[in-house]
Amino acid sequence: SQFLLSIVSVSCLIETLKQNLGGDPSLFPSNFLFGTASSSYQFEGAFLNDGKGLNNWDVFSHEPGNIRDGSTGDIAVDHYHRYLEDIDLMVSLGVNSYRFSISWARILPEGRFGEVNAAGIDYYNKLIDALVLKGLEPFVTLTHFDIPQELEDTFGGWLSPKLQEEFRYYADICFKTFGDRVKYWVTFNEPNIQVTAGYRSGSYPPSRCSSSYGNCTYGDSEKEPFVAAHNIILSHATVVDIYRRQYQEKQGGSIGIVLHAKWIEPFSNSTADKLAADRAQSFFMNWFLDPIIFGRYPEEMNTILGSILPEFSCNDRKKLNKALDFIGINHYTSLYAQDCIFSLCEPGKGASRTEGFCRQTPEKDGVSIGESTALAWLHVYPQGMEKMVTYVKERYSGIPMFITENGYVDENDPNSTIEEFLYDVKRVEYMAAYLDALSTAVRKGADVRGYFAWSLLDNFEWTYGYTKRFGLHHVDYGTLKRTPKLSATWYKLFIARYSLVK
Ligand code: NOJ
Repeated sequence: SQFLLSIVSVSCLIETLKQNLGGDPSLFPSNFLFGTASSSYQFEGAFLNDGKGLNNWDVFSHEPGNIRDGSTGDIAVDHYHRYLEDIDLMVSLGVNSYRFSISWARILPEGRFGEVNAAGIDYYNKLIDALVLKGLEPFVTLTHFDIPQELEDTFGGWLSPKLQEEFRYYADICFKTFGDRVKYWVTFNEPNIQVTAGYRSGSYPPSRCSSSYGNCTYGDSEKEPFVAAHNIILSHATVVDIYRRQYQEKQGGSIGIVLHAKWIEPFSNSTADKLAADRAQSFFMNWFLDPIIFGRYPEEMNTILGSILPEFSCNDRKKLNKALDFIGINHYTSLYAQDCIFSLCEPGKGASRTEGFCRQTPEKDGVSIGESTALAWLHVYPQGMEKMVTYVKERYSGIPMFITENGYVDENDPNSTIEEFLYDVKRVEYMAAYLDALSTAVRKGADVRGYFAWSLLDNFEWTYGYTKRFGLHHVDYGTLKRTPKLSATWYKLFIARYSLVK
């Protein structure tokens, strides 16, 4: 059946190429980074190996009820032990870069209180060396949701301004140790998701919320997301500052931040809805980018939130002046936003004051903005890619961008056969259409320098555990065997077509 499947795959592939899905790869500039993305907690496993400390996700996933399938990232896809095999998969795809994150607790098991864990340093040195040897550019995130549990216990995590010093200390070690080979640094991955899930809905650690959601504990959910965000923004600026002053010139790299960037389309042509869509974006993404680039929160946030929103001091503002070299965009999905007419205000649907008084919905007149998927938040709307990138280009005056994540979740149930998983036509169509839209934005002048598919492998999808698969390669969770899906072959051909003309 493997043989039959591969015949089917090849003929489908040819069909796909005939239709020229995926636009014209030649529209991407030379030196464009094509890669795949991952993160430490979702990939590494080895959660207690070689001196690693516990992190917030280790603790959270071990609490019954937090992860839908009762799983944890203890083993995940065992990337810690299988990174060489995984690098071979990347080589076979023909990508020229790899986005991954460093596990803070593997480097500093107890934050600043303890020793640097030499085995952790060793692991990342080996990973980075192996990538460089194969001509793969390491694109490194310093923190992708996971922080040492010690920092949660001692300081209350990002609610404390003390985390700025912790993060500075950790980042400094990373720059010093890995910066000779790492030329792309990301401080934070999707802090906009991290703070709302961690301090408003309570669905991610440290599970703080206003009302009951699973195991969450009561926190001042009106204020806390903004306090945590404020500390994250300042931590980012502090680290960019030391990178620029002490490392950048010598090492010749660049540094940025990654936001979850969903496209928000006005529900109607009315001015009120257009303003609502702007406001929704300000409360979602510009919340982080405006302070980092312009030194202040979006005006709408100040007006609506008043004293809920922390303030930047004069000194902060000095550091927050274009405190990044590139913007990382994780783009998957789109929604409509509608001005919040009182009767439509639904808490949790973006209708409250703390979410900018706009209702967000995937549907209009019973029709979804795009095809729905196995995840309620992911709607397939390829035009959103072009619109999103163009929006960022215009608002932030041409700062270079990377698509640091884009990907499709498999529609499957636990009884799906391996063949069904491997024949992931929907993922091929998704990537082709999104890359097509991206190339249009690039042709119209957007300075986009790379694209990372989420993800190289199926992996631990946070609170969904292993039930949602995003990989270009299928992982058998019993044996951890990796098998390329149709999308892996398609991506390989896309990159090959690109390489031919560049
Ligand atoms: C964004 C996150 O950065 C990543 O960790 C997650 O797995 C993907 N989106 C898919 O939800």
